[in-house]
Amino acid sequence: MPARGPQATARKAVAFFLTTLALAFAGSAQAQTPGTAPAAPAPAVAAAAAPAAAPARVALCAACHGADGNSALANSPSLAGQPKVFLENTLILIREGLRQIPAMQGLLNGVSDAEIVALADHFNRQAARPQGTARDDGAFKRGEAIASRALCGTCHLPNYAGQQQMPRLAAQREDYLVQSMREFRDNKAQGRDTMMNGVLRGFSDRDIADMAHYFAQLR
Ligand code: HEC
Ligand code: HEC
Repeated sequence: MPARGPQATARKAVAFFLTTLALAFAGSAQAQTPGTAPAAPAPAVAAAAAPAAAPARVALCAACHGADGNSALANSPSLAGQPKVFLENTLILIREGLRQIPAMQGLLNGVSDAEIVALADHFNRQAARPQGTARDDGAFKRGEAIASRALCGTCHLPNYAGQQQMPRLAAQREDYLVQSMREFRDNKAQGRDTMMNGVLRGFSDRDIADMAHYFAQLR
């Protein structure tokens, strides 16, 4: 079902915004590849990547996302090992109020692009760790087969570690995976990348639960 009205307009705006961001990052990556076209000057946001994330800010994030980036809090996602571009894009969307997260309301107000790059770098470097919940072999195998048939790995990578603006699914909290997949399926994933629109259409709660179980068990 196509989106209509103001919601559709907002989605288009976000899609445009993300495409622009992705192109900017792709451009900066290309500029650093030796042997390609004339080196363009690196964008300011990339040039500012050097400073480490402020420990006080990281401690604030740790309250909900875990001291080592692996969350112990229900429905609060782990950030450890997430791709840098995904983290940068998402933090900018949250700061600008485009992806609204009530628990993070106002938390990124006035945080500079340079600090966002540093935060993204910090969490990207942390090692993702599965929750350690007991494995249900039946659900694991069903989840693996469904995700494989649905070609989720073409974007999230075959090991589901994520890449660029595609988040890591491997070792993510199972409850958070269920919640976010249902939101995408039910068109309630407000302020999120339109690439996931339609991907989960027609999937049952059971399919989603099995895939979440599978991804959560992966390293
Ligand atoms: C009070 C709890 C809380 C604090 C503090 C907090 N967050 Fe969050 N954060 C959440 C919750 C809950 C979500 C999931 C929202 C949703 O999708 O429903 C989230 C989502 C995110 C996401 C999106 C992750 C994904 O996989 O989609 C990022 C990135 C993030 N937070 C970064 C941060 C950073 C960086 C800080 C510190 C500056 C921080 N958060 C502080 C609760 C918190
Ligand atoms: C065309 C590329 C593409 C395909 C195919 C795809 N995804 Fe995604 N997925 C994305 C992008 C991009 C995001 C980031 C959305 C955002 O944060 O705005 C995402 C986000 C997600 C998230 C949210 C994770 C988080 O940390 O917030 C889940 C869960 C997810 N995808 C599961 C799946 C599953 C399951 C499949 C297969 C049925 C799939 N995806 C197929 C591109 C894709």
